[in-house]
Amino acid sequence: MKIRKDSNFKITKTNQSDNIFQRKIDHLKIAIEHNNQYKENYFDNIELLHYSAPEINFKEVDLSAKFFTKEVSAPICITAITGGPLVSKEINKTLAKAAEEEQIIMSVGSQRIGLIDNESIESFAIVRDVAPNIPIIGNLGVGQISDPNFDLDEFQECIQMIKADAMAIHFNALHELVQDKGDISYKNFIQNFRLIRERFNIPIIAKEVGTGFNFDFALNIDKLGFDGFDIGGAGGTNFTAIEQKRQINNTKDYTRNLTETFREWGIPTPVSIIYVRNISKKPIIATGGLRNGIDIAKSIALGADFGGFAHKFLLTAWEDLKEHRITKTLKEIRTLKNELRSALWLMNLSNLKQLKLNKDKYIIFGKLYQWLNQ
Ligand SMILES: Cc1cc2nc3c(=O)[nH]c(=O)nc-3n(C[C@H](O)[C@H](O)[C@H](O)COP(=O)(O)O)c2cc1C
Repeated sequence: MKIRKDSNFKITKTNQSDNIFQRKIDHLKIAIEHNNQYKENYFDNIELLHYSAPEINFKEVDLSAKFFTKEVSAPICITAITGGPLVSKEINKTLAKAAEEEQIIMSVGSQRIGLIDNESIESFAIVRDVAPNIPIIGNLGVGQISDPNFDLDEFQECIQMIKADAMAIHFNALHELVQDKGDISYKNFIQNFRLIRERFNIPIIAKEVGTGFNFDFALNIDKLGFDGFDIGGAGGTNFTAIEQKRQINNTKDYTRNLTETFREWGIPTPVSIIYVRNISKKPIIATGGLRNGIDIAKSIALGADFGGFAHKFLLTAWEDLKEHRITKTLKEIRTLKNELRSALWLMNLSNLKQLKLNKDKYIIFGKLYQWLNQ
């Protein structure tokens, strides 16, 4: 995978890094400026059950959680968004400062660009610089891991870049399929992942990016030696919709573009949480269409351990960085905590353990019910 490493990025930037830069800028811009959400959000098909006179002191509801070895104040994760272009450094800095202040988990976006272009490293490293204590998750794609020339030292570089507490490998087959020149060959993945597993002790998380894990795949990668899952199910940010807006696909040979036909493709987040929890006891971050603290509570009731948000925090960071502050991002994290605490209190639960996989606390109906009862 090694391409080029020069310190003078402006002169020696390769075509490949140009493409990755442009793609990241497009994704950020389209995600900020347009609505790219899935049409349906299956969290609407779950209701939590109210308890009329909670016997617990509201302030004593305990939201603390443990992410591998580190304690966090609440089960909230800012999931992978960015790295690379200059604006990414500012976004990551804003998010990391707020995450550190509120002691929650943060992930960086794909570090591929950091391996190609030295100048990009800072956009990732800034996260650990401003957030020395929180768990930080690194990120590489299945496409990079599947490269026949995959170099284990590069995995090491990604860990060191942010002094990662865990690494995520993202699976984004549909997204790669619908974009121009996407990576759609994963034949070497298993073999290369085994090499990673042999060499590195760091927890490695399998992460989807909006199409969710099905039962079989989750089972296979659980056995392969992944240490956790980031669900990335359907319901929130939709990369097929984002690629549709980039409009760089070749349509001359077909009557329809894949981005139209496959726009709603994917396994809804609540379904995927249940699939994965059925086959594994490992930590699960529920991501993909979570909107508030109630959705975190619903995810935990279904079996997840953490709630993850990407688009929501991209928007707060964008607002904040224009004003050189972190107020909006901080306020959003505090709002999520307060909503989650309120949901627990209104169910007469004093901690997350009492909520996790607690079937007495929720009702499932509509399409979600049908899906789960096939
Ligand atoms: C602009 C943008 C860029 C993203 N970049 C990455 C990435 O580099 N790596 C990754 O694993 N996921 C990436 N994601 C996916 C998110 O981590 C998350 O799985 C997905 O957006 C669903 O969460 P949401 O509905 O809260 O946005 C990105 C999401 C957005 C909005």
